[in-house]
Amino acid sequence: CDKILSQVKCPQLELIPIIDSTNQYLLDRFGLLPKGAVCLAEYQQAGRGRRGRQWLSPFGSNLYLSMYWRLDAGMAAAMGLSLVVGVAIAETLQSLGADEVRVKWPNDLYYRDKKLAGILVEMTGQAGDAAHLVIGMGLNINMPDTEGSDIGQAWTNLSQACDKLPERNHLAAELIDSLQKTLITYEQVGLDGFVERWNRIDNFLNRPVKLLIGQRVIEGIARGIDKQGALLLETESGIEPYIGGEISLRGC
Ligand code: BTN
Repeated sequence: CDKILSQVKCPQLELIPIIDSTNQYLLDRFGLLPKGAVCLAEYQQAGRGRRGRQWLSPFGSNLYLSMYWRLDAGMAAAMGLSLVVGVAIAETLQSLGADEVRVKWPNDLYYRDKKLAGILVEMTGQAGDAAHLVIGMGLNINMPDTEGSDIGQAWTNLSQACDKLPERNHLAAELIDSLQKTLITYEQVGLDGFVERWNRIDNFLNRPVKLLIGQRVIEGIARGIDKQGALLLETESGIEPYIGGEISLRGC
């Protein structure tokens, strides 16, 4: 912790060697946490991804990081928030030498068409009240082949994306700093300014993709995101926005 805290201001930082899930740890402590509190782990016994999937979290190979945030604008603002978190992480990794890192709508980080990191935002709150969010990020740094081979899609490691891998404490400090700054900016201006930044680093911009919506599959060309954070898909009938947690994007 000290090594990280010497590089970044963080109101509360806990580094827990073995945990069920860093997201769960913070979710269980809402109300006790200062905004911006962070939990990091070396190993997660029950790391989780989106849609109830498991997030494989072997010891020492990767980064498992969660941050607590209170969003006064309420739950409705949270969709945009997970997009800006993706932009913040991708730009930070680029600044540390992984210049080909890209975002994939809505919550993934990609390197050369393979998944490098995933973001899971979990929240609670009443309509009309502030939303309490936990923003969780799992970043593959040196995931062994044997551990992560079964996630149902191609994946990769930061060690592949950088010539010189940043030191892990420095990486954590930079990510925490960038998340804090980005979330503060998002509270002030919403998605304004982020749409352009997203579209600059969108892995599938102007490429053929498939959207899986329940049993439906729609093919088209990805045209980035709009001001609401919806994915824009061009088909024969024109460009339409798609938004919502039940939509998956795949390259063709
Ligand atoms: C996904 O791509 O499905 C999202 C994966 C999110 C994994 C991270 S690891 C840190 C935090 N704790 C968890 O249990 N999940 C998130």
